[in-house]
Amino acid sequence: MLSRPDVAVVGAGPVGLGIAWRCAARGLRVVVHDPAPGSGASHVAAGMLAPVAEAYFGEHELTGLLTASAARWPAFAAELTAATGADIGYRSEGTLMVGLTADDLAEARRLWAYQQGLGLPVTPLRPSALRDREPALAPRVRGGAFAATDHQVDPRRLVPALRVAAERAGAALVPTAVRRLSDVDARVTVVAAGCGAAALTGLPVRPVKGQVLRLRAPGGVAPGFRHVIRGYADGEHVYLVPRHDGEVVVGATVEERADTDVSAGAVLRLLRAAVDLLPELAEYDLIEAIAGLRPGTPDNAPILGPLPDRPGVLAATGHHRHGIVLTPVTADLIADLVVTGAADPLLAPFTPDRFAPAATVATAAPAVDGRTGPGASAPEEEHTWN
Ligand code: GLY
Repeated sequence: MLSRPDVAVVGAGPVGLGIAWRCAARGLRVVVHDPAPGSGASHVAAGMLAPVAEAYFGEHELTGLLTASAARWPAFAAELTAATGADIGYRSEGTLMVGLTADDLAEARRLWAYQQGLGLPVTPLRPSALRDREPALAPRVRGGAFAATDHQVDPRRLVPALRVAAERAGAALVPTAVRRLSDVDARVTVVAAGCGAAALTGLPVRPVKGQVLRLRAPGGVAPGFRHVIRGYADGEHVYLVPRHDGEVVVGATVEERADTDVSAGAVLRLLRAAVDLLPELAEYDLIEAIAGLRPGTPDNAPILGPLPDRPGVLAATGHHRHGIVLTPVTADLIADLVVTGAADPLLAPFTPDRFAPAATVATAAPAVDGRTGPGASAPEEEHTWN
């Protein structure tokens, strides 16, 4: 690419590639910087699209964004498949949420009641109805509920497909690491670097470790269950995500740590919870144990929009537990912001300035299209966040 790009995206995970695809498809010159595309949190992620099951107490604004993005997923998946021919493993059987013991069920029911109070589609199921849906569940599972709109996609298929879509739309991938934003030459820079955003921008993004297992059904057949299962099992929270190719993802720990070591204790707890809920999993092959780092933020919500005091720089990071589900809404709304300079109201609760000292809050969204926006940016300055 000879001329100065309109947009430089730092980070080729699903969020960065999604933004690159959407921007390139709108005629912008786009470059994406990443020495190892798809090697971050998305490589470990299970790919649950779970705005209902992951609607947690006190996070109703985040739940609104998750719901909006999940609603975009069917069209996004279809468009991506049409653009690339790739099967990204999108599945819409829904999610069963289950409790193993009476205590587990009591804990789960509190959350389901909260979710129903938000108007989310949670349908309680009697044990017999639960087993009609998923006969492989252990007989001692006490009860559950169905979240029909919580779907799944395979992140290890999604990321290569997004890369193909972005490149076919005209985006160029550059396999170099960006160490300082001042090294990037573009009208607009979008920082979609996951945990790496902290060093680049000073934003309060911290690693939150997750350990995940992958099992495989013996004999090359599909797993003996078809829903995503989210279980409470003797106090452990576990999810089980079946793929058509026989893989089952079992996750995940949530640890305030920055290493990617896999511990025997975590593997033991995940497997015990998984097998307690679905006994046949004991016969599956254990094919992978891996840890990744989610980009967490102080309020567990993503950071989306212009950086105060850094004209021409947009953040699209901090997606924490929700990077895959939030990919479509992030890609669409950040591309809109780049093209028009207008921020969709959905972004309002998630702008970077919520973490900034009042004096540094930007007074206007960057009108990225034209000379009033980041194209007319001032030189970068170091900026420290509290
Ligand atoms: N959203 C699943 C996880 O973060 O483990």
